[in-house]
Amino acid sequence: MSERLNLMSPAMLADPYPTYAELRRDAPVCQVDPGGFWAVTRHDDVVAVLKDTAVFSSEGFRAATKPAWLGHNPFGDSMLVLDPPAHGRLRSLVNRAFTPAAMARLEARVRAFAEDIAARLPLGQPVDWVESLAMPLPASVIGELLGLDPSLHARFKRWTDDLTSISPVTPDMTARMEEIRTTVREAEQYLTEVLASRRREPADDMVTDLLRAQVDGQSLTDAELMSFLFLLLVGGLETTVHLLNHSALQLIAHPEVLDRLRADPALIPRFIDEVLRYEPPVRSVYRLVMADTEIGGVRLPKGAKVLAMIGSACRDEAHFPDAHRFDIDRRGVTHLPFGHGIHFCLGAPLARLEARLLFTALLPRVRRLSPAGPPEWRRALSVRGVTSLPVVAHPA
Ligand code: HEM
Repeated sequence: MSERLNLMSPAMLADPYPTYAELRRDAPVCQVDPGGFWAVTRHDDVVAVLKDTAVFSSEGFRAATKPAWLGHNPFGDSMLVLDPPAHGRLRSLVNRAFTPAAMARLEARVRAFAEDIAARLPLGQPVDWVESLAMPLPASVIGELLGLDPSLHARFKRWTDDLTSISPVTPDMTARMEEIRTTVREAEQYLTEVLASRRREPADDMVTDLLRAQVDGQSLTDAELMSFLFLLLVGGLETTVHLLNHSALQLIAHPEVLDRLRADPALIPRFIDEVLRYEPPVRSVYRLVMADTEIGGVRLPKGAKVLAMIGSACRDEAHFPDAHRFDIDRRGVTHLPFGHGIHFCLGAPLARLEARLLFTALLPRVRRLSPAGPPEWRRALSVRGVTSLPVVAHPA
């Protein structure tokens, strides 16, 4: 490949996998546009990058989410951008909110949301899956976790869309820049009010837990709290929405899988894990090279910007036999869609829980899912997903 690949081209947005396969074969570490990132595409190299936090720093996220034109952005200061030891301190303050016991406590609420959303899905007519199903569940769950006003769910989605669309913005896109600046201001203003109200009146929610959390006598600073709330909004919403969207796309493409899940709901977790492998919602994560290094036989200088391409790694033929086949009977689960090492996703059990309970509630009602129009793919470097997905759910 002589010309630099553009990850934002319509073809790469619609189906990047054939090109990822070419990259893994011919140019496993190569520079791509936009942004001149070094894309690392082979499974073992991606894992090596994510493991080596000294050379491949998560500061890469800060550069991608806090460019000069944006300036202030609490998301770009969250634990996602930190390396040891600062990262470890924050992680130990917040991870108690995600223990198995905490998830078990949440399960009944998530089930109630899932059953309600599934029951309201109009059957036998075209609907937008994103609007009707994929967005409402994670928005309700994250709203519940943080104690946010349900009437603002649509606004949260716009915020997270904007916060995950920062890196493809080019200098000519001044109107888009203004929209994103407005989003950061609006979200911060709203979340400042949430923090103030929980300080006045503690509640049984994660914000109150975070305000009280202490490790070695230290609690979270106001700026750390704000960054974490931004991270939870984006992490909790934007990724899980796409897990649910990609699940629908696979059920449309494989009606026989839908039949099997209906007959045996115990297969639903395996289906979800295979959707995560086949179409990881986080297709790449950012890293910054801290010292001259070599990866996949390519020398990278200090300061190089790297994209660890999880989306490609999950289809690496060297790691997954028949990698391009969607196969819920595949042996062994990969957790790579949730990252690897110290930044491994805190919300992985919650995302899996939401997807399992949604399909458990929905499938008894639905015999078949069929497309009602072409999906529209999002323009984003790190997240892969659709903005709309017209479908018809045929009644059982
Ligand atoms: C299918 C859904 C999800 C996917 C695919 C996903 C993916 C990821 C990935 C790949 C990372 C690692 C980023 C890196 O190494 O730089 C990550 C981190 C994180 N995720 Fe998720 N995520 C999902 C859902 C969630 C949910 C539901 C939450 C919370 C409600 C969440 C909260 C977080 C947090 C807080 C981190 C940062 C952990 C750290 O820096 O130590 N995620 N996620």
